[in-house]
Amino acid sequence: MRILVTGGCGFIGSAVVRLAVARGHEVINLDALTYAACPENVAEVAASPLYTFEHADIRDRAALDRIFAAHAPDAVMHLAAESHVDRSIDGPGTFVETNITGTYNMLEAARAHWTNAGTPGAFRFHHISTDEVYGSLGAEGQFTEDTPYDPHSPYAASKAASDHLVRAWHETYGLPVVLSNCSNNYGPCQFPEKLIPVVILNALAGTPLPIYGDGANVRDWLYVEDHADALLLVVEKGTVGRSYNIGGESERSNLELVRTLCGILDALRPKVRGSHADRITFVTDRPGHDARYAIDPSRIRDELGWRPSVTLEEGLKRTVQWYLDNEPWWRALLDREGVGTRLGVTA
Ligand SMILES: NC(=O)c1ccc[n+]([C@@H]2O[C@H](COP(=O)([O-])OP(=O)(O)OC[C@H]3O[C@@H](n4cnc5c(N)ncnc54)[C@H](O)[C@@H]3O)[C@@H](O)[C@H]2O)c1
Repeated sequence: MRILVTGGCGFIGSAVVRLAVARGHEVINLDALTYAACPENVAEVAASPLYTFEHADIRDRAALDRIFAAHAPDAVMHLAAESHVDRSIDGPGTFVETNITGTYNMLEAARAHWTNAGTPGAFRFHHISTDEVYGSLGAEGQFTEDTPYDPHSPYAASKAASDHLVRAWHETYGLPVVLSNCSNNYGPCQFPEKLIPVVILNALAGTPLPIYGDGANVRDWLYVEDHADALLLVVEKGTVGRSYNIGGESERSNLELVRTLCGILDALRPKVRGSHADRITFVTDRPGHDARYAIDPSRIRDELGWRPSVTLEEGLKRTVQWYLDNEPWWRALLDREGVGTRLGVTA
């Protein structure tokens, strides 16, 4: 398959690019190289004849038309987005422009390409979204694909809007779309503003390990390479017009998660005295912080036969080891705008 991946220099997109090339797909990676991009994430495939990079912004419709015409992809995997909830609280405008208008541009460019090609039934537009569109759960229950949308943050609202556009382009124009909504990802190459890399890097620096609120918020953690595997399955085998929830079957409170990480760090990079957990510090909560997300994975398991293969404990060990082994990668990112400062407390 010739796949146009957007956001392929980001955390999840780069895992998709690496896996797709390894499986023999041709990949065109379209990325604007924002603050969150790390081109080194795709260094291992950069010289492959199966790989092409296009430096472009999804807010630029003319650039998208040129790229569709030049590469004639069989499928699109649309991951490019502004992805950090705290940044969406401080500056929602970019989230509206990239996540909503950018997705609209992608849909229109894809529709024009698909129409010019004679509306091939095998074409796919795969939109990658989040479980945050469903809002927040209490102690019980899980999100299914039929859970009503109830986004709370500007980030979640912009992703919800983009999901609605994608469904409308299928219903109205017949564009062959598939969607997926996943839980929190973690693993190698995650930008050092999200919880797990922040905790690892602060532990290595000997600085406090910040946990929002009382640490009781629950998330379902999905190892990024498992997610990339699920995404390729959805684009290849998913039913047109359907969405698939993708989770890691690993619910933990933020406090439990950070304590587990500290245990791994104690084994791999012990402190001179005591545990890394001694530095856990509770900080002002995020405004509108959702209490619990949980994914019902029945549809992707029953229809496509997919389940996560990496346990949370194993995935966290691999992740900590990766950050220990790749210091030049994360050191180069610490100077980027906003990194290391508390964002999203302005409500
Ligand atoms: N990380 C998670 O836990 C998670 C969970 C659920 C859903 N998602 C979704 O998965 C996708 C990827 O997330 P991620 O964590 O890899 O994000 P990321 O922030 O690590 O990477 C985003 C990438 O998109 C690119 N990009 C941003 N704006 C662009 C624009 N206007 N034009 C072209 N490229 C642009 C950036 O340069 C970057 O390479 C997003 O759509 C996100 O909403 C992520």
